[in-house]
Amino acid sequence: MSTHIGAQPGDIAPLVLMPGDPLRARWIAETFLEDARCYTEVRGMYGYTGTWQGHRVSVQGSGMGQPSLAIYANELFREYDVQSVIRVGSCGGMTEKVGIRDLVIASGACTDSSMNRITFEGLDYAPVADFGLLCAAYDAAIARAGDEGVHVGLIYSSDSFYPTRPELTARMVEHGALAVEMEASALYTIAARHGRRALAVCTVSDHLVTGEETSALERQETFGAMVEIALTAGTA
Ligand code: HPA
Repeated sequence: MSTHIGAQPGDIAPLVLMPGDPLRARWIAETFLEDARCYTEVRGMYGYTGTWQGHRVSVQGSGMGQPSLAIYANELFREYDVQSVIRVGSCGGMTEKVGIRDLVIASGACTDSSMNRITFEGLDYAPVADFGLLCAAYDAAIARAGDEGVHVGLIYSSDSFYPTRPELTARMVEHGALAVEMEASALYTIAARHGRRALAVCTVSDHLVTGEETSALERQETFGAMVEIALTAGTA
């Protein structure tokens, strides 16, 4: 096992779906995978491997925020030879260009985190999605419901769920950011470092401009649709 994942080599599939919430990982495994087996319960950050339409797929919780995700992403790529990680998460809409329940496929992720600033000694690295996964996810999304409510663009991976400087958030929007979440920037950077593929797809669960929030049922339904898009894209 690696430091934070209690799996043996070979227990984890080359494709991993990565929700923040470990209970979502369990829900994905129970709802979408056949013959799902739990390979780790370390710190309650569950991981499962099963099959979806004949493809071996794993689901691994990441926890909230970039430092937590970075632990799991590093170990998946380094110790378990994972080839692709697709984050499936929620995000906050930052602009009226995106609506509540919409899908945001993140082509890139800017951040206020110091992780990359330290790694690149002040140089502003631009974390981007894998283009193949991005195209496959877009195709899968519009095949489901047309392009209504499907966005591809820049997201903002913030270290703070509760922002202390709303004017900085506004500036991100002025420069194209569509939605805020807390993990994608680290995922894209770590995947690039290991020469692997990564993508973040997020559904808008709350809206910073309109104040709308999805109900628990809506979250479940939009989350399920997003998981199917991620599975289709990852196995294309
Ligand atoms: N901020 C940060 N992360 C989020 C949000 C948000 O408003 N909504 C869902 N994830």
